[in-house]
Amino acid sequence: MAIIRSILTLLFCFFTCGAVAQLQQITDFGDNPTNVGFYIYVPQNLATNPAIVVAIHYCSGTADAFFAGTHWAQDADTYGFIVIYPQSPYEGTCWDVSSEKSLTHGGGGNSNSIANMVTYTIDQYGADASRVFVMGTSSGAMMTNVMAATYPELFAAGIAYSGVAAGCFYSDSNQENGWNSTCSGGQSISTPEHWAEIALAMDPGYDGARPKMRVYHGDADTTLAPQNYYETCKQWAGVFGYNYDAPEEVQSDTPMAGWETTVWGPNLEGILASGIGHDLQVQGAEDLKWFGFTIEKYHDTLFCPFRGDAPEDETGTERKRKRVLVPGCGRGYDVIALSLHGFDAYGLEISSTAVSEAESFSLRETVNPSPNNFGVLGDTTSKYTPGTARFLQGDFFDSAWSDALGFKFDVIYDYTVWLCPEPGNPA
Ligand SMILES: *[C@@H]1O[C@H](CO)[C@@H](O)[C@H](O)[C@H]1NC(C)=O
Repeated sequence: MAIIRSILTLLFCFFTCGAVAQLQQITDFGDNPTNVGFYIYVPQNLATNPAIVVAIHYCSGTADAFFAGTHWAQDADTYGFIVIYPQSPYEGTCWDVSSEKSLTHGGGGNSNSIANMVTYTIDQYGADASRVFVMGTSSGAMMTNVMAATYPELFAAGIAYSGVAAGCFYSDSNQENGWNSTCSGGQSISTPEHWAEIALAMDPGYDGARPKMRVYHGDADTTLAPQNYYETCKQWAGVFGYNYDAPEEVQSDTPMAGWETTVWGPNLEGILASGIGHDLQVQGAEDLKWFGFTIEKYHDTLFCPFRGDAPEDETGTERKRKRVLVPGCGRGYDVIALSLHGFDAYGLEISSTAVSEAESFSLRETVNPSPNNFGVLGDTTSKYTPGTARFLQGDFFDSAWSDALGFKFDVIYDYTVWLCPEPGNPA
């Protein structure tokens, strides 16, 4: 056992990431019967209503090692979010993902303590409860899946690196911090329905929103068998009601050569890293995107105003929640088209005349969309809940506008829309 655990010692980062502020320990944050350590990183330029990232270390790791060894604190300096680094109370510093108390909402185990750290932080720092994220590696990834299953109401998204499905490390003797070699060896194989049942039973009766999940695993992992990648993806596919056997998309060489990304829907993505063992590196830029800290550029023609209908796969609530910036809005056609498709769209223009013109135009159009004008051609009864259209005056190259609104944009939209075919002349 000790040997297996020491194999789990992972060096995720060989340098200190250079965060500006210090890691602090908080000792009094609520019920903590299993004595989990609570370390927090609050950046100097803390955002108002900041997001929270819970970053959970691997076996033999510590809060400090994860603080120094991952990119999160450095990114917290840039984006103004808070990072919570829980620390395992056990010798060997794995997480309890085996006992009933940790596998149950409000059960008093490690998961309960971590949930209490989150609610404390929301309270203490006025953090944004709708932007709390969880990630971890190895044992921390097992715990990430357990957190997503036991406290789905707390998290908007999760990322699990080289872990196992929630409940896979279950101990039939209710052992705390137990090791389950059936699972680690990849022999706990079941159906999406069964795995989903296991996850759902960890917070029985809950039927609200759940965190979207991203699952990474190396296909040459000899510590936690690669089969656990498939079992974890089955679990979340089952929870979200996706057909595990029919993913929406399989992208080879994504996000890098030899890695394969499978997308089941907006709430589940799996990334299998070819030739990589258990020491899979945490992917900074990709994960910032998954948690919505960095902007995605929306430059395709999916929301072409002259297209009769938006594709089915864009109907998800995921798109609706996005905030889109349309720089240089002109008369605001594209802003309005996007808002009619459920985005909260903001047009940015340097001329005050353009802004006021766009405003009155958008008001008329969103109240009474006209198919032949530009709107959602042939579909004025949009199946989306319309978003809002607003116009701001500002300079695209000056980022003050995002601070003035109190949030950053999720997406920058550009002009490809104007290359769309004219009505009656579809491409
Ligand atoms: C190991 O976990 C599996 C589920 O993944 C469970 O069925 C089995 O009983 C567990 N083994 C032990 C010894 O607890």
